[in-house]
Amino acid sequence: MKAEAFDAIVLGAGAAGLMTALSAAQRGKRVAVIDHNAQAGRKILISGGGRCNFTNLHVAPDRFLSGNRHFARSALARFTPADFIAMVDRHRIAWHEKTLGQLFCDGSATAILSMLLDECAAGNVAMRLGESVSDVSRGDLFRVTTSRGVMEAPALVLATGGPSIPKIGASGFAYDLARRFGVPVIAPRPGLVPLRVGNDDLGWMKDLSGVSLPVRARFGKMHFDEAMLFTHRGLSGPAILQISSYLREGEPFGVDLLPGQDPLSLLQTARRERPRAHAPAVLANWLPRRLAEALAPRLLGDKPAADWSDRLIRPAAAAIHDWIVTPVGTEGYAKAEVTLGGVDTRALSSRSMECNSVPGLYVVGEAVDVTGWLGGYNFHWAWASGRAAGLAI
Ligand code: FDA
Repeated sequence: MKAEAFDAIVLGAGAAGLMTALSAAQRGKRVAVIDHNAQAGRKILISGGGRCNFTNLHVAPDRFLSGNRHFARSALARFTPADFIAMVDRHRIAWHEKTLGQLFCDGSATAILSMLLDECAAGNVAMRLGESVSDVSRGDLFRVTTSRGVMEAPALVLATGGPSIPKIGASGFAYDLARRFGVPVIAPRPGLVPLRVGNDDLGWMKDLSGVSLPVRARFGKMHFDEAMLFTHRGLSGPAILQISSYLREGEPFGVDLLPGQDPLSLLQTARRERPRAHAPAVLANWLPRRLAEALAPRLLGDKPAADWSDRLIRPAAAAIHDWIVTPVGTEGYAKAEVTLGGVDTRALSSRSMECNSVPGLYVVGEAVDVTGWLGGYNFHWAWASGRAAGLAI
């Protein structure tokens, strides 16, 4: 079968693939984008609750996890939040900062996808949606066989993301293909993912599903001051998703249920000023009522405050200040917002995303072992790495 000729073939029409394609095409390169989904950018459409948290004003290399913490520096320096905002503004997409530097569309995430597709169209990118890749080989050129034909190009870009949320077409395709070309992959695992707790904790937490409160989640030197949500299998909410990326299976971490306050002095004051009050009422001053009711019998028993000894109050205060949670697992790829690990950064050029040992093969976006915090960082990595590859092709 005669092959169609391109300068670059991009596998994956997600955030990183579209940015790579439009950047190369607008430099005059003939680019094809192939995706097995019939619709491009499905993760963009469901992101940020449908409003796409498209970047973060505080993008910096230390907000990304990677085997090489310096790897992202070059691409991030050359494509900044201001660069992406300039594109958004040029397309007259209204946006706002929600919190912690997180930028969202005022309207729908569709606007971001339309912008990327319009920019691709301006560069005459050939969009091949709903086409599955059946073979990739390399001679003088890369040769990609799909369900509809054969294409050849001197550059091949792996932009198929990670396996998080398989029901919308996510796959480990990039890892398999990278390994086939001898490019190493750091074992992937779910990131920004809700955690499951064991039966001991589920026992007292069983009626708390839906309760949310501001906490500080901490592990090692990292801490996140954000909301935590009780679920019927464990814990979720931004603070938990953030800390989950730093944990290895079964590792305990701490939660401060009253960040910025001193629970010991609060309980001592309650004992002095409200001697007849019982624990649920006292704790409900500072914690959501349902949580206060669940914690009270475990921490302070059923005596009125006047009868609380220091020996009772001290461990109760410590448990509120530093509740040690030992997760028994995560909710897995079905609920993970990103995938940690991926194509080993030591095998890639940080300037171009090209594989050192396979000239012409590029890897961008979530498929690379670079994972951002929650809050627009992961899209920004997709934009920055896609731009780096698109300018190098
Ligand atoms: P992405 O997954 O976007 O694209 C990969 C593309 O490759 C897909 O179109 C897929 O169909 C295609 N593909 C996969 N396998 C293939 C195969 N075998 N053949 C052909 N095509 C294939 N981040 C953020 O910064 N702000 C946010 O608001 C959110 N919100 C959010 C919500 C939810 C529910 C999730 C799951 C994730 C987020 N994220 C996020 C994370 C963000 O969506 C993610 O980091 C980027 O989409 C990664 O971009 P990529 O282009 O690398 O992969």
